[in-house]
Amino acid sequence: MKLSTLRVVSLLLLCLAGALFVVSRVVTLTTMRWFERDLALRAELAVAGARSSLIEHAGDTPRILELFDAITRDERILGVALCDAQGEVSVASRDYPRSLRGQDLGVDLGAEVSHRIVDGEDHQLQISAVPLAGAGSTTYALVVHDLSFVLRRQDVVDRFLLALFLAFAVCGTLALLISSRLSFRAWTARLRSYVRGETREPRFRPLLQDLRALARTIGDQRTSGAGLPWTPSRLKQLLRTDLMGERLVVIANREPYMHVKGDDGVVRVLHPASGLVTALEPVMRACSGVWIAHGSGNADREAVDAQDHVQVPPDKPQYTLRRLWLSPEEEKGYYYGFANEGLWPLCHLAHVRPTFRQADFEHYRAVNQRFADAVVAESGSDDPIVLVQDYHFALAPRMIRERLPKASIITFWHIPWPNAERMGICPWARELLDGMLGSSILGFHTRQHCNNFLEAADRYLESRIDRETHGVEQAGNTCLVRPYPISIEWPLRWPAEAPAPTDCRRVVFERLGLGPHVKLGVGIDRLDYTKGILERFHAVERALDRYPDLRGVLCFAQLSAPSRSAIGEYQDFDRRVVAEAERINARYATESYRPILLLRAHHEQPAVLTHYRAADFCFVSSLHDGMNLVAKEFVAAREDERGVLILSSFTGAAKELSEALVVNPYDVERCADAIALAVSMPEDEQRARMHALRSIVAEFNVYAWAGRMLADAARLRWHERVAGQLSPFPRP
Ligand code: G6P
Repeated sequence: MKLSTLRVVSLLLLCLAGALFVVSRVVTLTTMRWFERDLALRAELAVAGARSSLIEHAGDTPRILELFDAITRDERILGVALCDAQGEVSVASRDYPRSLRGQDLGVDLGAEVSHRIVDGEDHQLQISAVPLAGAGSTTYALVVHDLSFVLRRQDVVDRFLLALFLAFAVCGTLALLISSRLSFRAWTARLRSYVRGETREPRFRPLLQDLRALARTIGDQRTSGAGLPWTPSRLKQLLRTDLMGERLVVIANREPYMHVKGDDGVVRVLHPASGLVTALEPVMRACSGVWIAHGSGNADREAVDAQDHVQVPPDKPQYTLRRLWLSPEEEKGYYYGFANEGLWPLCHLAHVRPTFRQADFEHYRAVNQRFADAVVAESGSDDPIVLVQDYHFALAPRMIRERLPKASIITFWHIPWPNAERMGICPWARELLDGMLGSSILGFHTRQHCNNFLEAADRYLESRIDRETHGVEQAGNTCLVRPYPISIEWPLRWPAEAPAPTDCRRVVFERLGLGPHVKLGVGIDRLDYTKGILERFHAVERALDRYPDLRGVLCFAQLSAPSRSAIGEYQDFDRRVVAEAERINARYATESYRPILLLRAHHEQPAVLTHYRAADFCFVSSLHDGMNLVAKEFVAAREDERGVLILSSFTGAAKELSEALVVNPYDVERCADAIALAVSMPEDEQRARMHALRSIVAEFNVYAWAGRMLADAARLRWHERVAGQLSPFPRP
């Protein structure tokens, strides 16, 4: 029994006991009064029957005693006596109590019948004085009644009342328990239906407000985990507890593992060069779930099962990769066309004109729909957590929302978002904005990109911008627009195939044929015009021009993975990069020295890490970049706290990594100075800078990125559940 019920039952019993006491007292007093009156009447009747004989035989004691015998045959009459007006008893029956023979009888010997209760030897007695000859009589008949039968009757009544009390107590308690249970059930049913939004009961409104506040507080407490580092296990824990073990469904165009058959007929697994993959893959390893991607490897179909699934990573499966096949026309229109010739140059300020074709957009829309359908097929519940990744899927959030209205859709835009004016260049700007607003949460790397998006939504759509919460409200749905700076796995996994960290410099220097005196810079990018590779080469050239001591000493290794090679702009760029490297090398190369080493090939992670560790500096010179994870990877690889990062101010990373040498890549002179400074920086300064950079990346790692987004999604789900928009809380 709960405490509150126990209290109510105790109160009930207390009230019943009080009532019993009062009733029993009232019954005792009332019946006593009735008995008194009754006995007085009976005394009067008994005397009335013998009155004439008593008067007639006055003075004849034996005769009077006979009359007394007749009267005392009534078993309740204990004795009879005659007395004068002073109470002096002249004759009394045998059992008449001795104590009542004195003068002070305590009864009024007046003209009327009077009576009084007195204590007898064993029990109470009632003595009634009846005038024998009416008013003014000087002789009285004293009749003494034994009251013990009254006590016996009262005793019976008391027992009866007690039994009644017990019966009431038991029945009352049971009735109370049953009715409280039933009314509690009815109350909670009404409350639940109110919380789910099925009914409107104004009386519950204050309660709901409290619940919302509570949910917010609990949600904040549960998900903030203030002060704790973000790790894979903390992320897993967040999914298990705050998101009730829901599995993640990710859509990202680029797959994390590609099966590629080489000319030798051997199938190899490659990790594509993609910042998105670098960031998201460790998150998926931590969280499990399914990653839906375009199956673009030439041997991808050979690796999947009947559902187009393949478990990855291949050596230690931790999540599912679902491959979606695109026809060459779809790939051309959706991927090369609208995504990479339209949106990519639109979002990056790199002076390449975006190209928009109607047919490309049709393919983009159709492919978005295919991915949205795949999400529905893979989600396995009506309120999954869906992570939509990047500019390939601006329309998918709305399409998913239409099929799964209760889903938590977190969309992350990995590249910059242009200002509203520039966005207006796109003929389908409205449709893209509306598609993205199908999300529950929309993430960008920086506050500036969020503001640009809000401005565009304000300008091009019928929507309400809530500047307080950074939300966009459209037809009753709100999408929160927040900055979540992306990052990398920390600590970095050092692959088994990579040389030991201490051996990296020796391995790379041997492979590149460099002497021990060489100062090595590295750049690691896809061959993309946004990355500022030409500007980087020009800075190296200018450094050699202005700092002659660096000639024969400064070497810059550019590891560039060919990218999007079907697009003319990329082919041109590739040619220009090769040409510029050749031109600069032609100026400064000697028999044993080439300032620029252009390694145009896909490099797997172990090779990339080895170059980071071998270098004296890493140069990230993007003309415009959402974040740039090369900068963070370089920092993470330098456990030795050596090496210098030169970082473009036009990257998202520059907002966090202020201990780097931050440069404007268009300012070739300052970039040359930065190179000269990097190669001559004292070890102490390198260590101090690298230490600060590493602590930032360690704290704001990719688990923090995913954790913050998922925690925000968890909070939203709590609030929505409390507001009655999602199914009831699953049992943990
Ligand atoms: C950028 C984009 C990613 C993309 C990557 C590589 O980082 O944000 O979405 O995967 O470039 O480009 P690719 O076209 O080869 O996937």
